[in-house]
Amino acid sequence: MNGAPRTVILVSGDGSNLQAILDHSRSGALGIHVVGVISDRPGARALERAARAGVPALTVDYAAAGSREVFATRLATELEPLRPDLLVLAGFMRILDTALVEQYRGRMLNVHPSLLPKFPGLHTYRRALAAGEREHGATVHFVIPELDAGPAVLQYRVPIQAGDTESSLRDRVRRGEHLIYPRAIAWVAAGRALLKEGAVWLDGMQLAQPVVVHE
Ligand code: GRF
Repeated sequence: MNGAPRTVILVSGDGSNLQAILDHSRSGALGIHVVGVISDRPGARALERAARAGVPALTVDYAAAGSREVFATRLATELEPLRPDLLVLAGFMRILDTALVEQYRGRMLNVHPSLLPKFPGLHTYRRALAAGEREHGATVHFVIPELDAGPAVLQYRVPIQAGDTESSLRDRVRRGEHLIYPRAIAWVAAGRALLKEGAVWLDGMQLAQPVVVHE
């Protein structure tokens, strides 16, 4: 990537992570150029956030597409003129077509609300509480075709407290996402973090574990 990577952010919902990324990138601190926001759901709040920040935003309606293949074709059509160097999934709730994931291998990031490899998939807060975990958190990882299984860059860990509920835990983990996601994006944009031979490298060293930030 030469210069600030052209970055497209994919969203589905509220867009609080999108907001954190936009807030940090406004000052140039992230070293990215956000060229577009794409939602798979019409009316997502994230679209309003993009518009307010003056970032071009559009919808590729997953439900209207009717299948993952048709959605993939439509998404690729919208992505092409944006010429992204980097794709950032920020609360994007769809599984992407393998060809697209392969095309952006090493250039696509996701944030997931669990301490991966624990609890891939949905309802991570509920599952962590039910399992009696002592810690929960969020992970920023490179995206590979297997769901929530890509090599992890950065992790935010919160202790589970007595009396924690799904929503109290979600609030604390979400605050951490807003901290670690912009940081990981800046590392990738600067070429400090990269995916090589299936592993994450940071500042020239292969990571055996993601970098951990504690609450
Ligand atoms: C985040 O918790 C993220 O980890 C998950 O979906 C949630 C999206 O939140 N993938 P928001 O839309 O960024 O507010």
